[in-house]
Amino acid sequence: ETGAVTLDPGFKNSGACKSEITFLDGEEGILRYRGYSIEQLASQSNFLEVSYLLIFGELPTKEQITKFETDIRKYTLVNEEMKNIIDGFPKNAHPMGILASLTSALTAFNPQPVNVAVEAELYDAVCKTMGKFLVIATWTFRKNMGYPLNYYDNTKGYVENFMRLMFELPTGPYEKNETIVNALDKLFILHADHEQNCSTSTVRIVGSSHAGLFASISAGVSALWGPLHGGANQAVLEMLEEIQANGGDADKYLAKAKDKNDPFRLMGFGHRVYKNFDPRAKIIKKAADDVLEALGVDDPILLIAKKLEEAALEDEYFKSRNLYPNVDFYSGIIYRALGIPTEMFTVLFAIGRLPGWIAQWKEMRVNKEPIGRPRQIYTGHPLREFVPQDAR
Ligand code: SDX
Repeated sequence: ETGAVTLDPGFKNSGACKSEITFLDGEEGILRYRGYSIEQLASQSNFLEVSYLLIFGELPTKEQITKFETDIRKYTLVNEEMKNIIDGFPKNAHPMGILASLTSALTAFNPQPVNVAVEAELYDAVCKTMGKFLVIATWTFRKNMGYPLNYYDNTKGYVENFMRLMFELPTGPYEKNETIVNALDKLFILHADHEQNCSTSTVRIVGSSHAGLFASISAGVSALWGPLHGGANQAVLEMLEEIQANGGDADKYLAKAKDKNDPFRLMGFGHRVYKNFDPRAKIIKKAADDVLEALGVDDPILLIAKKLEEAALEDEYFKSRNLYPNVDFYSGIIYRALGIPTEMFTVLFAIGRLPGWIAQWKEMRVNKEPIGRPRQIYTGHPLREFVPQDAR
């Protein structure tokens, strides 16, 4: 019940780590941040509060969260010279590639290493990362659209600023839409942390060499980009759009996914840990219905997604392999309804996952964990004598 596991003697070199941040039970479909269920956090909390919980270990008081938001605002201005870097990218560069580069470039403008033993220094680094990452993440979209780069408005909330930074143009203000801001806030909570997934493990292992927080987060962005990981939310929408363009025949794509000679996989299905339903997928599916109804969006893609899900959940191949919809299956449908372009979906995943990456990096450094050094099972040649070139 406490989630305690017995660590085998080889634990130290097993690549596994101990953490107090997130508990997952893949069989029971349980996800908890610092002991609180994802269901309660998604329905009763907000993204900045959950970020504080993940990073500092407790739900904040009113004073603490007000101070946290105020302190993040100290760092929401990004050095103008960072624009020279983004201008170096071709217009159609993928936003995740730009984001990984800009995140790493933040080190150049904040070169002072963080002394994690000094609480105030670590706290400032957390606020700086939360403040600057959101801005540069939206710059990737602005660049792609040929829009001027926007600035954070310190009089508005964190998630509302995301929509402003993305869509506000010099020609007029962004009109806040509560439904959209609330839906995004919930989605960011659902993406905030997920134990030792591929990108979080990357952040931890890069940070374990005492590389800086920006450098470690940049590595996490690159890992998340992959279509088997965070890139799946973009791949799901592209798959659904392809099914729609080909007459909406879900069964044809199920057959492709089961064909071992076909590399096609049903994007948004399956998981390394959840061998039952992904609790986040259930919440997002409900949110998709609510958001599309609230916005009056009748998206046929949602019907294709539901048809595909129903068919897969009935299919022996998928049932026998415990393949269920994961967090990425429905999230893209909501992002699309909110006017977010497909190639930005994984950037939104990164914005949501940022507090988890920070929390895990901080835990690893504060606990003085040794440098990551996974071992291997050697399957190559036994010892052999060198052969001179003319004898090969
Ligand atoms: C995320 O780790 C995390 O926590 C990640 C994440 C997070 O919050 O950080 O939850 C976010 O990355 C979610 C996953 C998003 N990726 C996708 O939706 C891509 C599609 N899914 C698959 O590529 C796959 O399911 C993975 C990558 C997610 C898991 O891959 P595994 O662990 O290699 O799958 P498996 O070994 O458990 O597969 C078992 C069988 C295999 O077939 P057999 O060899 O037994 O015949 O199921 C098959 C696989 O080929 N299979 C699929 C499938 N996923 C697995 N077949 C068709 N479609 C799929 N999606």
